[in-house]
Amino acid sequence: MSTSAILVLNGPNLSRLGKREPEVYGSRTLDDINRELAESFPGVAFDFCQSEEEGVLIEKIFQAEDGGACTGVVLNAGALTHYSIALRDAISAVKLPVVEVHLSNVHAREEFRRTSVISEVCLGVISGFGPRSYHLGVRALLERG
Ligand code: DQA
Repeated sequence: MSTSAILVLNGPNLSRLGKREPEVYGSRTLDDINRELAESFPGVAFDFCQSEEEGVLIEKIFQAEDGGACTGVVLNAGALTHYSIALRDAISAVKLPVVEVHLSNVHAREEFRRTSVISEVCLGVISGFGPRSYHLGVRALLERG
């Protein structure tokens, strides 16, 4: 059985999890979330990446595609979700399946968060389950085969 390899990609401000608006995003840090993912899916080879920069996220998606071994991407693009056509185009440019995830329920918050420019080019969207959103995203990729 071949090992699945999943890129978990986090965008701007997600480095601040734990300190950032804990009433919205919870008390777990991004390291906590990543560690729990690795523990929950011991058979998956994870690549964890976070950047405040749009271009770094785009490059990372291209590297994952070009490496040829990546099963798919779990992407929390943060605020870029709502306006980054460049990120959308990058997702469109690759064959890799990308699952859009959010810790908070973006549909239960400010109006501007209800628009995602990336959903249309993602495999699916998981929003509102806190750190479990990432777990569900991984499962969606694994169960897809
Ligand atoms: C977020 C929701 C976005 O609207 C916000 O800009 C974030 C985090 C979430 O995980 O709930 O940075 O993607």
